[in-house]
Amino acid sequence: MSDPAEGASPSARYAAGVGRGEWTDDPAQHPALRELDRLHAALLDSPKVGLLDRLRGKRPEPPRGLYLWGGVGRGKTFLIDLFFDGLPLKDVAAAGCTGSPSPARRANPSGSRATGAREEERPRRWRGPGREARWPEGPDEGTRETCIGDNTFSDSQLIDGPGKRRTHFHRFMREVHAQLRAHAGESDPLVTIAREWRRRLRVLVLDEFFVSDIGDAMLLARLLGRLFAEGVVLVTSSNTEPRDLYRDGLQRERFLPAIAQIERHCCVLLLDSAHDYRLRALTRSPVYRTPQAQATGEPDSEAWLQSRWDELTAGAPRGHDGQEQGPLRIEGRDIPVRALAEGHAWFDFAALCEGPRAASDYIEIATEHHTVLLGGIPCFDGRNDDAARRFVTLIDELYDRHVNLVCAAAAAPPELYTGHKLTGAFERTASRLIEMQSAEYLALAHRG
Ligand SMILES: Nc1ncnc2c1ncn2[C@@H]1O[C@H](COP(=O)(O)OP(=O)(O)O)[C@@H](O)[C@H]1O
Ligand SMILES: [Mg+2]
Repeated sequence: MSDPAEGASPSARYAAGVGRGEWTDDPAQHPALRELDRLHAALLDSPKVGLLDRLRGKRPEPPRGLYLWGGVGRGKTFLIDLFFDGLPLKDVAAAGCTGSPSPARRANPSGSRATGAREEERPRRWRGPGREARWPEGPDEGTRETCIGDNTFSDSQLIDGPGKRRTHFHRFMREVHAQLRAHAGESDPLVTIAREWRRRLRVLVLDEFFVSDIGDAMLLARLLGRLFAEGVVLVTSSNTEPRDLYRDGLQRERFLPAIAQIERHCCVLLLDSAHDYRLRALTRSPVYRTPQAQATGEPDSEAWLQSRWDELTAGAPRGHDGQEQGPLRIEGRDIPVRALAEGHAWFDFAALCEGPRAASDYIEIATEHHTVLLGGIPCFDGRNDDAARRFVTLIDELYDRHVNLVCAAAAAPPELYTGHKLTGAFERTASRLIEMQSAEYLALAHRG
């Protein structure tokens, strides 16, 4: 391959993965690949602005971004990551981040082997969205090697100038709110913030565009307006068509300009695949495991969770020897995590429910992860009511946001609580735990 950047076009990388037998060639994904190819090529193309225009300070017209929407598990995140990973732009995520995990690693367990590189040999490893807190205040990242799955760009292959960033929509909004607080008192802080973005960013990839918060809704029209005015290209995935965003929200009319901005600056494309790949993986075996259900000779809960994790994340990075890889940082608080991968997190019960945790921690976890693995759920006999109470809150938050829960517990849901004080609340929890095992629940779109 003479030019690795060209070879990394989304459809070329997709075809290579299909050729290796890692991914299914899904014709429903082809229109999205065509759009991503268009963007990839436009971003590699040197901007064309005449001398006169340049003297007048005119900037080249940025290419239209992409708003990829559709049902859950259809491959939206997979495709936008394929695009992101193959873009030879500097990754402006915080230090230690390498961008997103390679789809090669997520779509098939053999993915990481197919790259020929063992995990620990990768130049920079993805450490999950929880480590991006330093952007954009953090120091410039420089142009170290950027991991793009089965390709690695060296400094000389990266295009100079502003880079690329990929994060979860909710995390991005949280950062914007924090930046606005930091610039409070300025006449138009959004202008300063947007300029700062443009200095560092050419392409912004946001996973799971979803608006439910009135604060976000009120901010988005101006935010997107500034973002596009600065020429940042937006690539985003969503379960919702733009015109249905924030559909029943308060003061929705003030949100409508945000929809108009998206429609003007992004190609809006429905990913209409017949396959729900995630559901397929989730329903391959149970999502709720008890020692009683464990037949002789089967792996114990720990080994079972490990194999479910591997199956669901298809080899996405985690600690090599099972040690905690983390912690996950939420609003300045550290939560020990067993493993993190794109959209997935694996916790021990003790880390989530036996410490000083609050509903806000669970809301963050449930917002940023569509799949949570939880090991070591004990029986509650009244002596551990504090943990039981936190567990009730945790399940409420996961349930409300349609998070897939894969868990190992000491007993079946109705037998978990034998105390007295929380009998009523726990009835709801038990019933939710049962419902959360159903294919209907597992097929629901994550409400991030
Ligand atoms: N063409 C494909 N072949 C094999 N696996 C795929 C394909 N497209 C997506 N997947 C896998 O299906 C799972 C769900 O895809 P994801 O992108 O997370 O869905 P969405 O973002 O639409 O909810 C992921 O593990 C992804 O790697
Ligand atoms: Mg997704």
